[in-house]
Amino acid sequence: MSFDRSVKIAPSILAADFADFGRECAAIEAQGADWVHVDVMDGHFVPNITFGPQLAKAIRPHIQTVMDVHLMIAPVDPYIDAFADAGADVLTAHVEAGPHIHRTLQAIRGAGMKAGVALNPGTPADAVAGLLDTVDLICVMTVNPGFGGQKFIASQIDKIAILRALIGDRPIHLEVDGGVDPATAPLVSAAGADVLVAGSAVFRGGSVADPTAYGTNIAAIRAAAAG
Ligand code: DX5
Ligand code: ZN
Repeated sequence: MSFDRSVKIAPSILAADFADFGRECAAIEAQGADWVHVDVMDGHFVPNITFGPQLAKAIRPHIQTVMDVHLMIAPVDPYIDAFADAGADVLTAHVEAGPHIHRTLQAIRGAGMKAGVALNPGTPADAVAGLLDTVDLICVMTVNPGFGGQKFIASQIDKIAILRALIGDRPIHLEVDGGVDPATAPLVSAAGADVLVAGSAVFRGGSVADPTAYGTNIAAIRAAAAG
């Protein structure tokens, strides 16, 4: 995985057909997705349950690009090796998920993956100030994690800009997750985000049988982000 700051669109399979993940991953990549975003929820850290490392491992052969795994679970550490075995390229843990996020990020890198840290909307940017030498990606949640299709929280735009300045020249991706669509993409891109996660705004109107809407939707977000 090489580093660059070009805008990348990362469809979240939370909005895909749960009975057909393999073909959904292939379809979004064929339609222009740069990364595939995989949302893992435990019904404890967030009020919803999705799937775990076995599902991630099962879909891995269907992903040619980057498998970007977003853990909304607590604790994280007992599951790091399972996600490495599943083939995650990026493994992101929430800064709010436990008292030892620095140790968790070290363990993620130690298991051979890129380490990401996510911030809930209520968590200030400086929560990651001490982690900059230990992370490869910072994810700003622009909804409260747990569900797709929620409204973008505009107050997070300042936080994106603060984090962009904090990152400076470091090779750290700045990802935005939640409520990203052609209306909000220019705001997050102008604030400095380079990885745009989008679930409902990518999958709406399409299906594995007729995926052209995925491509139209991805292109619309990309064009909006480019201003
Ligand atoms: C929310 C997830 C997001 C979500 C985004 O907890 O982390 O990745 O799927 O979905 P949309 O784009 O519909 O807000
Ligand atoms: Zn996510």
